[in-house]
Amino acid sequence: MKILFDINIILDVFDNKRSEQYPSSKKVYDYCINNKLDCYLCVASLDNLEFLKISQLDMQFPELTYAQKKRLSDLLIQDLLKFFKLAKTPSYYPIDLNDIEDSQIIGSAHAIGAIVLTRDKDILEKYSYIAVHPDNFFDFIENKKNNKIPFLDLQSINMQYCHQFEEAFDAVLQSGWYILGQECKKFEEEFADYCGTKHCIGVANGLDALILILKAYKEMGIISDGDEIIAPANTYIASILAITHNNLKPVLVEPDLNTYLIDPDKIEEKITSKTKAIMVVHLYGQTCQMDKIWEIAKKYNLKIIEDSAQSHGAYFGQKRCGNLGDASGFSFYPGKNLGALGDGGAVTTNDDELANILRALRNYGSHKKYENIYKGFNSRLDELQAALLRVKLKYLDKEIEKRREIAKFYLENIKNEKIVLPKVRKEDNHVWHLFVIRTKERDRLQKYLEKNGIQTLIHYPIPPHKQKAYKEWNTKAYPVTEQIHYEVLSLPISGVMGMDEVKEVVEIINRY
Ligand SMILES: Cc1ncc(COP(=O)(O)O)c(C=O)c1O
Repeated sequence: MKILFDINIILDVFDNKRSEQYPSSKKVYDYCINNKLDCYLCVASLDNLEFLKISQLDMQFPELTYAQKKRLSDLLIQDLLKFFKLAKTPSYYPIDLNDIEDSQIIGSAHAIGAIVLTRDKDILEKYSYIAVHPDNFFDFIENKKNNKIPFLDLQSINMQYCHQFEEAFDAVLQSGWYILGQECKKFEEEFADYCGTKHCIGVANGLDALILILKAYKEMGIISDGDEIIAPANTYIASILAITHNNLKPVLVEPDLNTYLIDPDKIEEKITSKTKAIMVVHLYGQTCQMDKIWEIAKKYNLKIIEDSAQSHGAYFGQKRCGNLGDASGFSFYPGKNLGALGDGGAVTTNDDELANILRALRNYGSHKKYENIYKGFNSRLDELQAALLRVKLKYLDKEIEKRREIAKFYLENIKNEKIVLPKVRKEDNHVWHLFVIRTKERDRLQKYLEKNGIQTLIHYPIPPHKQKAYKEWNTKAYPVTEQIHYEVLSLPISGVMGMDEVKEVVEIINRY
């Protein structure tokens, strides 16, 4: 919960007489500090805070010089800013000329989704839906408490960075260059560096990343129409669409029931003279068993294409995904561990020629304006999304750490014989994009959790070969894949989930 403090509360807290007169102001202030709640001051109030503090000192200590009073006021503001964040009033918010400061405070609270803590009668009356008196604060938050645990609270995830996003937005706006500019270039450098690869090419989304990799190999003469690409039968549809959109044939391989990842021991039997690549999907945040897959690819001279849409930052041995094959596609769909505020994607690779072709393919097949070497696409990573992703990339490892902490707690504490917990390979460095459990009573468990306020999702309810889009495969049997799709359930997990919520999920599941 975010709380924007009106300065009358601040003045109550830092003046003995006033804190005696209005004890609830101090009580709420202490509660917020002790519980590390998200507290804000409106930028527009700072000037007034200084003025009122100096006036207060003037009345209480008339012997002080102006410089001394100013110094004391400066110290107070300096101290407050160690704990309080500043909220600016957005320029689009209408200013009420009858009380300019009040409307600026309300505008700031709106922009960040905060409540306003105030004793100002006008604000409390006029903006009762958003403003609360300290006397009523504890009742107010009790009523506001939402006992539901969302699957993924994207708003809270992104609001953590709202100030840096503002700065990033202003930089893009002022640059005057909105497609393939400096932000995209810098993000590509930073993400390549993060993955440990030579190149990163920003594209419009994860599906395009995979489509363009295959298209680039076709331009290089390595893959041709009708060739076969090995892919897991258990994956999100995008992995398969990328193959069929290129007039190539997906050859589906069953997953390992323990890890849900492509079973490396079942790949070799599917290789024919038409096989040109293996697409590995590091599903749910865990990398595939790459040592075995590297061996097979080497033996049959196959390219390895990674679908890393769910696994930013995951390791296999010393290397991160994105750097475990010949080329890798990433998605920055908002719900991913590294998610934009819209669509976004990227390809990483160490192959200079492939990178060069991809840079052209995403941009109408052109390196130079109006000269088209390939029949390309318009699939560029948006400049604004790149700027926002640069902010979030700095915190990706922190996000992953928090997810690991939650996953560890789930793994150690969920104890219910009806439920199969995810298996993690010993040497693994899982990033827990999803925490996926399995049970024969999946739909019943999901309803039970919903009734108890816990939102869950299914990744995924229908396997690719059973989709209407691929009706030619509907009669094929992939029993392990089908079992997974009928039994899996994803529990809430994210960097903003409180451990109290995690414990609640465990308790409720254990009672099932
Ligand atoms: C495994 C996998 N591959 C590919 C994609 C496609 O990414 P996007 O939604 O950015 O196109 C996704 C995500 O949605 C995914 O989960």
